[in-house]
Amino acid sequence: MELCAIFFFSAFTLLFFSANDVVSAATAPPLKFGINYGQIANNLPHPTQVSGLLQALSVNRVKLYDADPAVLTAFAGTGVEFIVGNEDLHNLTDARKARVWVAQHVQPFLPATRITCVTVGNEVLSGKDTAAMQSLLPAMQSVHQALVDLGLAGKVNVSTAHSVNILATSYPPSAGAFREDLAQYIQPLLNFHGEVGSPFLINAYPFFAYKASPGSVSLPYVLFEPNPGVRDPATNLTYDNMLYAQIDAVYAAMKAMGHADITVRISETGWPSRGDADEVGANVPNAAAYNGNLIKRIAAGEGTPLKPDVPVDVFVFALFNEDMKPGPASEKNYGLFYPNGTPVYNIGFDGASFSPSPTTSTFSSSSRPTSTFLMGVVVLLAAFFL
Ligand SMILES: *[C@@H]1O[C@H](CO)[C@@H](O)[C@H](O)[C@H]1NC(C)=O
Ligand SMILES: *[C@@H]1O[C@H](CO)[C@@H](O)[C@H](O)[C@H]1NC(C)=O
Ligand SMILES: *[C@@H]1O[C@H](CO)[C@@H](O)[C@H](O)[C@H]1NC(C)=O
Repeated sequence: MELCAIFFFSAFTLLFFSANDVVSAATAPPLKFGINYGQIANNLPHPTQVSGLLQALSVNRVKLYDADPAVLTAFAGTGVEFIVGNEDLHNLTDARKARVWVAQHVQPFLPATRITCVTVGNEVLSGKDTAAMQSLLPAMQSVHQALVDLGLAGKVNVSTAHSVNILATSYPPSAGAFREDLAQYIQPLLNFHGEVGSPFLINAYPFFAYKASPGSVSLPYVLFEPNPGVRDPATNLTYDNMLYAQIDAVYAAMKAMGHADITVRISETGWPSRGDADEVGANVPNAAAYNGNLIKRIAAGEGTPLKPDVPVDVFVFALFNEDMKPGPASEKNYGLFYPNGTPVYNIGFDGASFSPSPTTSTFSSSSRPTSTFLMGVVVLLAAFFL
């Protein structure tokens, strides 16, 4: 009933207003997940159209890999919260250059565009560039100092995004441990996070684990589908999905290094809708299940078994398929949307699969934002073709 009402309201609104106006008509509270807005493609819509798309979807948190002024300008006044990035570690270790960068690429957009975090480098410690590993913390410290000097320290966090591959052990979660060869970098990094109060960011892809061992990794377990779960013998906590187990493994690894004071956030997670012949599991049904189930859980405010009161915080990868990404076919096919604004799949928000599920009551408080998400998709699909 409500779904129909929203649909007809949206459809009629659409006839008379632009996508941006549809947004102001949307009454649902914003969705709680963020999205990665990668731009390694030659066919993406203009940032102002993307701004309209995300507002119609009620997505209010976006992560960039740079600090593209065109994007930051297009989102001024929208209330959308941004993580921006800078991967130029070498220059950032120079305090003066770090300050110039913050003054030119972050400060001018505040407060109209809500930039709340700067990530310095991406997956540096799981790479092979030891010079970059050594520069990582000094670069983060320079950026932090620049924020302090410019009076932005309480407003903008400094962090870096890690691959889960920095863990040597991730199962059982209570045994989570960082790679020993990285301890020399991670210990001072954790001390920094503890001091300045910034989050620890992890890029986590259960898809990679499944692709590597489809015979032994349970598909329902990685896709958040019903399954018996696995019990951590040391804590007796039961995990029904790999992502939450990975998050708790990071908490355990940090605790083993003396830090129970740092929040873990998922800076990237997702599932490709297409892949090469040898990329088992990269297909539309799995991508729709992974992202759809994840978003429902996020909407319900779930925490992990270890931290049930701390809602899991994710940035889904990614907004668009990116045709210029190097690597296997899967790399180009993580998007929720094609560049023309058409959804790649419907994320399971088609009332049919949502309402009759036995766990509906668990999600009742979230049915509104999720149904609005579906409507947003429908509205935007229409908006892009009008
Ligand atoms: C480092 O900064 C200089 C300007 O100070 C700039 O010309 C150069 O492109 C930067 N390096 C990189 C890798 O961006
Ligand atoms: C910075 O990170 C901390 C820890 O996750 C969080 O509590 C705080 O709200 C963040 N600050 C901003 C401006 O987002
Ligand atoms: C886990 O459960 C078993 C069996 O119920 C019990 O013997 C054990 O003490 C529990 N361990 C913890 C850490 O709660």
